[in-house]
Parts: sequence; structure tokens; C-alpha cells
Amino acid sequence: MLKPGIFITGTDTGVGKTIVAAGLAMALRSRGLRVGVMKPVATGCQGTDQHLVSMDAVFLMEAAENEYAALSSPARFRHPLSPNVASALEKKPIKISEIVRAYQELQRHYDFIIVEGIGGLLVPISKDYFVANLIKEFELPLLIVARSGLGTINHTLLTVDAAVVRGFDIRGIIFNRMPTVNFSMVEVTNPKVIHELTGIPILGSLPEMDHVDVETCKFGNLKEIFLERIQIDKVLNPSEVLR
Ligand SMILES: Nc1ncnc2c1ncn2[C@@H]1O[C@H](COP(=O)(O)OP(=O)(O)OP(=O)(O)O)[C@@H](O)[C@H]1O
Ligand SMILES: [Mg+2]
Repeated sequence: MLKPGIFITGTDTGVGKTIVAAGLAMALRSRGLRVGVMKPVATGCQGTDQHLVSMDAVFLMEAAENEYAALSSPARFRHPLSPNVASALEKKPIKISEIVRAYQELQRHYDFIIVEGIGGLLVPISKDYFVANLIKEFELPLLIVARSGLGTINHTLLTVDAAVVRGFDIRGIIFNRMPTVNFSMVEVTNPKVIHELTGIPILGSLPEMDHVDVETCKFGNLKEIFLERIQIDKVLNPSEVLR
């Protein structure tokens, strides 16, 4: 049975997909949902060649208290490159069928699945197969993570455009790293401008947070801040009843 879930994409790499995915996992768990997390392809992994670890996957699994590492992180590469390039360099082909099988298996264990994308929508996973193709395969709605500062109108509209053309259901946009001091007209006006231009719900903004770091697995007050600032109900379809 297809379980509800969400695919977290970003307007770029490093925008805060992992932070948002982890915050959402913790927020939904606090409502009693069993949340499964997945980073379908991870590059820039650490450890030995026999035991490569994705810090994105570790962070997500900690947030969601998951235990099936092989399902959450089925394809790992050392080089911090796009998946197609890392895969060619490390001579390890990416088997989409195995990734889909891991996703299906994860659905058997959890009520709601959060998948973190790789970079943005048009990052190549292999020849002629992009992150967008994987979203189609997973049949998941989208959540877009965007920067809060200058340049985000263009990047967000490009992402929305690419998603709409492919018929994706965009549940909302979250702006990340809102400055808490010294913010300007840019950060204040961007969400409203983007909402007016796209009609897509703005689910909220996450501030620049202390003691939050993916690489060293620090959560700070991410859960509390996420619950306070983000409208998580809009991530869920009304038919996806919360327990
Ligand atoms: N709101 C925030 N406050 C403080 N630090 C943040 C915030 N958002 C993200 N970061 C930090 O910025 C870095 C990039 O964020 P994150 O890893 O979530 O981006 P990403 O989109 O998942 O990147 P990738 O494309 O590599 O998966 C991380 O080190 C993270 O800890
Ligand atoms: Mg990430």
C-alpha cells in the first residue's frame, strides 16, 4: 500500500533540505506518526569504502528514530559530486530499481515517509534520469526549501516552474535561515512576493539557529522552532488523517 509522504526538494544544494526534513520528522513524530526517512542517493559520504556513511541520512534517522539504515540510505558515494559523476568515478552504477525497492520496503515499516532530494530537481542521478524522475517514481508531493535572501525569487520560481511542468503537487515552500538580526527588506518581502507570483502556500520560515549542525548531528531547538514556525498541517493531505 502506498503510504503518505513528502519529497523535500530545494532551490539549490545546501539550502537546508536536511534541516527541514529532520524538523518535519520530529514535528510529525510529536503528533504520534511513525515517520520513515530516506536520502535515496548520497554523495560526499564519510568512512571507509566498505562502510560509507551519509551524514544527511544519519541526521534524518536520528531525528525520526529510524533503524533501517540500508533502506534510508541505499546508495552512497564518497565524492561530493552530482550522483552521475560520483557513480562513474567510483565505478558503482546507481540502480534505480534497488532504490525504489528500498522506498517500498520503508513504507512497510512506517506511516509517513519523508524523502530528502539530492541538490535540486534537475540534478542528474544517471544518464537521462534526474531527481525529478525519482519524484515521479515515488509518487510523492513536494515541499520546496528556499533561501531567504537576495536571489531566491528567481531560484524559487525556476524550481516551481520545473515542478509544475512535470505535474507535481507542490504542498508548500519553506524559507530557511531567516536572519534574526540585521535582516533587510529582501527577507521581509520575499515570501509574500513569491506567494503572489506562484499561488503556492508559504508554510513558514526557519530562522538562523544556534547549535544546529548536520555534519556533527546537533539538533539544538530545531523541533521546538519547527513546531512554532511551520504550518505542518499543509504538508499533509486532509485524507491523510493524523492519529
Ligand atoms: N536554519 C539554519 N540555522 C543554522 N544552520 C543551518 C540552518 N539551515 C541549515 N543550516 C546548516 O547549513 C548547512 C546546509 O544545510 P542542509 O545540510 O540542511 O542543506 P541541504 O539542502 O540538505 O544540503 P545538501 O544539498 O548537501 O543535502 C548544514 O551544515 C546545516 O547545519
Ligand atoms: Mg542534505
